[in-house]
Amino acid sequence: MNAYDLLKPALFSFPPETAHNGIHRLLRTAQGTPIQHALRRRYVVDDARLETEAFGLSFPNPVGVAAGFDKNAEVPRALAALGFGHVEIGGVTAERQPGNPKPRMFRLRDDEALINRMGFNNHGADAVGDRLDREPLPDVPVGINIGKSKSTPLEEAADDYLYTYERVANAGDYFAVNVSSPNTPGLRELQNREALTDILGTLTDAGAAPLLVKLSPDLPEPAIEEALAVVDDLDLDGVIATNTTTSRPESLRSPTKAERGGLSGKPIEGTATRLVRFAAERTDVPVIGVGGISDAKGAYEKIRAGASMVQLYTGLVYEGPGIARDINTGLLELLDRDGFERVDEAVGADLQ
Ligand code: FNR
Repeated sequence: MNAYDLLKPALFSFPPETAHNGIHRLLRTAQGTPIQHALRRRYVVDDARLETEAFGLSFPNPVGVAAGFDKNAEVPRALAALGFGHVEIGGVTAERQPGNPKPRMFRLRDDEALINRMGFNNHGADAVGDRLDREPLPDVPVGINIGKSKSTPLEEAADDYLYTYERVANAGDYFAVNVSSPNTPGLRELQNREALTDILGTLTDAGAAPLLVKLSPDLPEPAIEEALAVVDDLDLDGVIATNTTTSRPESLRSPTKAERGGLSGKPIEGTATRLVRFAAERTDVPVIGVGGISDAKGAYEKIRAGASMVQLYTGLVYEGPGIARDINTGLLELLDRDGFERVDEAVGADLQ
């Protein structure tokens, strides 16, 4: 039993979004104060074997925060102090958006999962860009996840992504194009070759680099191959696999399982790992593995399946603030067990 196990029943007595906002406020209060230093001492695993390089950036460890947790770049330094090796903020859209009506986030407690249909609620590119320019950045890489404004028609998507990119360009260490959220109508249609080439080509022409694309686990294999072909054609820097799924595995037991939206957490772990492997087998660029990771074993599986790094969101909700430390500590043990000197050496170890 750790402190979070004691706190969790109280936290989970609140609706998920209320609990999330409460935690967010606590992190914002701690950020930049002596508490942040205390968190660092408690949670940061400082070990050269965990350091990794991808798309020209150095990461102190391979465990990052997935998009959606810090949509408005309010707590990146506090998240770094929890031991994460990078923070992906956003999704940010060109326009400020309220998102979908509440409730729009649901716990599936029996499944260690969440369903969300937030709908890219965020302060918008101008406000997030200003905050990033004004406030100190963390000492770990910051990625910026860019989404499409709901009111922008699909044909004008490229300009919408470009607007956001230009507002956040100074502060981002890498940029992730999100065409895979299930909660903006039509968005996932942008994963076809033509639309992807238009959006990603517009961004590369504007100098966006390193540029990654985040994929849906619901894409059929030929569509993934097509997306990976665009990554190659445009010389993009990486792939993030995966976003949430609209599918509902038979195994789900929680009463909230029929809510509309994207499912994340344990039930998507296997699917996400398979997509990591599928992508890693077909591209030379780094793959960031995300989906259902809650412990070192899960992170290590994705790394061995070809992920250069991993990210998580739902695991943080169920496991608490010690999750990055526990995964990093566990990874060191697994590397030791399998005779790897550094985490880089384990990347793709399970591939032929
Ligand atoms: C997300 N995710 C997400 N992804 C993205 O690219 N842009 C976004 O704005 C969001 N927003 C978001 C909100 C909420 C409430 C959740 C739970 C998730 C998806 C997230 O980054 C990740 O890809 C999935 O959640 C799968 O990882 P986990 O949660 O199983 O570790």
